[in-house]
Amino acid sequence: MEPSGTIVVGGGIVGLAIAHALAHRGQRVTVVEGKQIGERAAAGVAAGMLAPSSEADLTDPRLTHLALASHEAYPAWTATLERESGVETGYDATGTLLVALHRDHLALIEHLEAFQRERGLHAERLTGRQAREEEPYLAPGIAGALRMPDAQVDPRHLLRALTVALERAGAVLLEGTQVTAVAPGVDGGYAVATEREGVASTLHATQVVVAAGAWSRQIASPIAGLPLLPLPLRPVKGQILRLRGERLVRHVVRTPDVYIVPRADGELVVGASMEEQGFDERPTAGGVYDLLREARRVLPGIAELELTECGVGFRPALRDHLPAIGNVDGAGLFVASGHFRNGVELAPITAWLLADLMCDGRLDALLEPFSPGRFIAKDVAR
Ligand code: GLY
Repeated sequence: MEPSGTIVVGGGIVGLAIAHALAHRGQRVTVVEGKQIGERAAAGVAAGMLAPSSEADLTDPRLTHLALASHEAYPAWTATLERESGVETGYDATGTLLVALHRDHLALIEHLEAFQRERGLHAERLTGRQAREEEPYLAPGIAGALRMPDAQVDPRHLLRALTVALERAGAVLLEGTQVTAVAPGVDGGYAVATEREGVASTLHATQVVVAAGAWSRQIASPIAGLPLLPLPLRPVKGQILRLRGERLVRHVVRTPDVYIVPRADGELVVGASMEEQGFDERPTAGGVYDLLREARRVLPGIAELELTECGVGFRPALRDHLPAIGNVDGAGLFVASGHFRNGVELAPITAWLLADLMCDGRLDALLEPFSPGRFIAKDVAR
């Protein structure tokens, strides 16, 4: 069969954002998702912090540049999605307070502030008293805080907004459909083997993007026994809690050990563990206990809130903890995965720059450090 259009493998935040950017460029797009949209996406449980400042010390400077570009794009991107879908995304730029509970935390905050200054990022030091004037429910006796211009979005709403915007743009969303293999098609392009409720079929496309998060390695290649993408990709489990009740804070509140993200509707998200447990989906008593203990130290009032959800997600992590975004085979096969802790944050910039590459052959300098070629031998896919 003659191939046409683009298939995006994976209906998580990155896959949907790429599909949306391609649809905006007039491409015919099909998204193929193994579950329901949002059901197993890392973004489906994520807190939605857009935090290029508060994680600057943990981050390769090249990733900070990409994250800052995405951060700048966010207000216009979410406004476009809201207009196209009628779904509010919860974008909120109130900011983040990184709170020091004691002297050790203060030293960490000073360290982060120095990194931020080096990278031209803005932050404001507050005394403990000033921080409590901003957020009266913070624990008494906190040692100080750093206020940063980070933002947040509600990733569940964002997934919904992207889904509706894509449907209205005429994109095809195939849910409950597993991609099992991708191979060169006999008439050019690619043959994408799928399975839905035990029934196998093949789709054809001129271009394919694999954006299946931590599952991106599970697609077979034409070379028997090899994954399509031999990326050193692993899932990093995150346990995350949702509480509900009186709105205790306006800012995102972090300590070096926990983050607390308030939503306008009274939800409070507390995250997140980092665990090397493969695809173990169980929330654990220890994981929940650690998160609540740390959150209660900074915001004692959370003890009165209702615990509504213990979620588990899988961050897609590459060996160097940087994403892989770009072409795989010198032809029409692309990947966007390995976004690790930054999938929500990096979704718009990943989508726009990859769409530029796919539609116009233009590789933006911001993407150069994230070439999948750093892991993939040239002859693997073809
Ligand atoms: N982006 C924060 C996390 O992955 O926990």
